[in-house]
Amino acid sequence: MLLAIETSCDETAAAVIAGDGQLQSNIIASQVDFHARFGGVVPEIASRKHTEAIVGVVDAALEAAGRTYTSCDAIAVTYAPGLIGALVVGVAFAKGLSWAAGLPLIVVNHLEGHIYANRLSEALEPPFVIALLSGGHTMLVHVRDWGNYQVLGQTLDDAVGEAFDKVAKALGLGYPGGPIIGRLAAEGNPAAIEFPRALLHSGDLAFSLSGLKTAVLTYIRQEQAAGRELDVPDVAASFQQAIIDVQVAKALKALEQTGAKTFALGGGVAANQALRQAYTQALEARGIRVICPPQLACTDNAAMIALVALDRYRAAHFASLDIDAQATSNLEEPY
Ligand code: KG4
Ligand code: ZN
Repeated sequence: MLLAIETSCDETAAAVIAGDGQLQSNIIASQVDFHARFGGVVPEIASRKHTEAIVGVVDAALEAAGRTYTSCDAIAVTYAPGLIGALVVGVAFAKGLSWAAGLPLIVVNHLEGHIYANRLSEALEPPFVIALLSGGHTMLVHVRDWGNYQVLGQTLDDAVGEAFDKVAKALGLGYPGGPIIGRLAAEGNPAAIEFPRALLHSGDLAFSLSGLKTAVLTYIRQEQAAGRELDVPDVAASFQQAIIDVQVAKALKALEQTGAKTFALGGGVAANQALRQAYTQALEARGIRVICPPQLACTDNAAMIALVALDRYRAAHFASLDIDAQATSNLEEPY
């Protein structure tokens, strides 16, 4: 039985998993309301809210599993990558618990968690290609085996989720922008406005989102300056389509390049319905199996951290108490 803790961004989360991989509890306390009026995550607020919430969230996860921490076999925690001040809260708490209860400590890479989240709904075996699309990351990864990752390409500037959030902010729609834009886009025309598809024909697997973001913001300003009323669903749908076109084209290229026959998704943006449909349509037509994590497992949670932790526990990959949280990490490096 393992307790897993996740505090890398703006959700304080804890989960308990049994040795056979059955999830016993999965608690998430979102801070989203505290960040919403700023249109994005404020790191200082995130740290403070984690500090306030962590005891209650861990207690709730243990209680829902009918356990106390002394009946756990190890304590696991996300140690990288993310907001350093947010990660530190989880890491310090997990270290304290590990020391006090005399339990081994397991550290988990947050991105590896998003990869494992696909196992919450379906049996999945490497090799496969995964698109990790969140507020902080946009990358294609070749999962050769569990724990063996090759980063095929990533964003040169903004992350996809960041673009959703910034466009939503410019449209006055609130935070987080992804779900709101996704809903509005369903009512709009994706071909209404021609926004740029950056690096679509670059021949590699790199992404660039800052030009698209600027193009949308410029369009909004121009329309407003001309006194025309914005068709918000059309803007949302056209922006989202520009993202989808590039993501699908590069996913296909990654699959061709690696020869993998399975494609998976991870990160908050993977909750986007239109994107999931576009991948499924384009890839299944080419005989690729497409796996999407359950919507709730796309955004940050501790269940996905618990799954990684279980593999690390079985491999006796324990951390010492002098380990530190890290804002960045190299997914290709074993840890
Ligand atoms: O993985 P996540 O919860 O946190 C990070 O590790 O960043 O991802 C959060 C991001 C936010 O930018 C949010 O706007 C985006 O995921 N997001 C979505 C959707 N739901 C969340 N983007 C597009 N469509 C959605 N339905
Ligand atoms: Zn995440």
